[in-house]
Amino acid sequence: KKPSSVTIRGQAYNTDATWFNVPTNVLDATSRKLHLLKDHPLQITRQVMQSNFPAPTYRYYDELSPAVTTHQNFDSLGFPADHPGRALSDTYYISDKTLLRTHTSAHQADTFRADESDGYLVSADVYRRDAIDRSHYPVFHQMEGARSWDRSKVPDGDVAAAVWRDVEKLPKHNIVVEDPNPTFHDERNPLQEGHHSAAEAEAIASHLKRSLEAMVVNVFSRARAAALKADPNFVDEPLRMRWVEAYFPFTSPSYELEVYYDGDWLEVLGCGVVKQDIYINAGVPNKLGWAFGIGIDRIAMLLFKIPDIRLFWSRDERFLSQFTGVSDNLDALKRFVPFSKYPPCPKDVSFWLRGSTTEEGNAQAATHENDVMEVVRNVAGNVVEDVQLFDEFTHPKSGRKSAAYRITYRSLERTLTNEAVVSLHDKVRKALVSELGVELR
Ligand code: PHE
Repeated sequence: KKPSSVTIRGQAYNTDATWFNVPTNVLDATSRKLHLLKDHPLQITRQVMQSNFPAPTYRYYDELSPAVTTHQNFDSLGFPADHPGRALSDTYYISDKTLLRTHTSAHQADTFRADESDGYLVSADVYRRDAIDRSHYPVFHQMEGARSWDRSKVPDGDVAAAVWRDVEKLPKHNIVVEDPNPTFHDERNPLQEGHHSAAEAEAIASHLKRSLEAMVVNVFSRARAAALKADPNFVDEPLRMRWVEAYFPFTSPSYELEVYYDGDWLEVLGCGVVKQDIYINAGVPNKLGWAFGIGIDRIAMLLFKIPDIRLFWSRDERFLSQFTGVSDNLDALKRFVPFSKYPPCPKDVSFWLRGSTTEEGNAQAATHENDVMEVVRNVAGNVVEDVQLFDEFTHPKSGRKSAAYRITYRSLERTLTNEAVVSLHDKVRKALVSELGVELR
């Protein structure tokens, strides 16, 4: 059933039967390049964010293939061998050595090695096995940015002074930013001693934060303008952001930026001062700087008020035609107007999990929730809106575990008849048995 080779962006890769786990719909997505499609909301959002990081200081890489090595995606960034992100349950593998990148950071080392400019942006499709709901899809898009300074090219080798001169040139904005934590944390985010002085790390962290705040101001003022066009009575609150300490194996110190939106703190990006080992291993030990990674899809959802992440994959003109002309004129950006909302159709399925008793568990791998999600997605495609675990139960005597999921079917493009959903749900039930070896209840 598994193909012996697959072609991704024109390049053939041999698969490996024990590792290959990429379903057809995910494989098909590798050729879509939505972030480059003129007048597509993801392309427009990419352009808005990109405008904060102009050429020639930043060079753009938008066409890098999603098939990368485990070295690029994990090892080169210092992920430990037992990091959960490496598991087959979380990541799409083509073979033991090749996978679909889980983040744009997979290109950090190679770009640091090859790029002669002061900075770069990589925009690309990324792949993660995950839950299904209106904001999670196994394929999404990220933009990674980095800015480096070369010790040997900076006057007197004084990186801190050179960075502060650049900070001075960044746009000023009048917004509320909370940044309560100290720059360093002894265990999680220490100063990279022996590589940076505290003054250098502080300067780089400030440049990073001011650059990203400016991008968020740009994106959210466009979101506000679009909201006002849709509703002249729209009252918004002052933009609030906060910096939160974070951990990434490849940066120190590290942060996440959160933005207050619609009554909640929304995590928008991860970033930090690049670990010097990455520059050293990339053959550019004189460089030092920062990197960030931001998800494009969620930002596009709030910029255009798009209610469901599946819409990005739609080929329906009622979706696509709403953004015509915006790539060439970002000021024409408008909110998405939903075409009639088709009714949801929820169906439940419950089953005994495989591998839930010790005897079984020794013989077979336990069922992982992401496997359930994927079987549903494979059978029902984009007609599934949401999959929720709503009941779990362990049999007191046998120790067997049972799980019950509610699957919400809803097409974004048409009304589904109950017969059609019943027959689809039946296929899902059968596939759960044949693919995962569960026992229906
Ligand atoms: N790659 C990280 C992620 O996907 C984000 C990140 C990029 C963090 C660059 C730090 C520096 O979560």
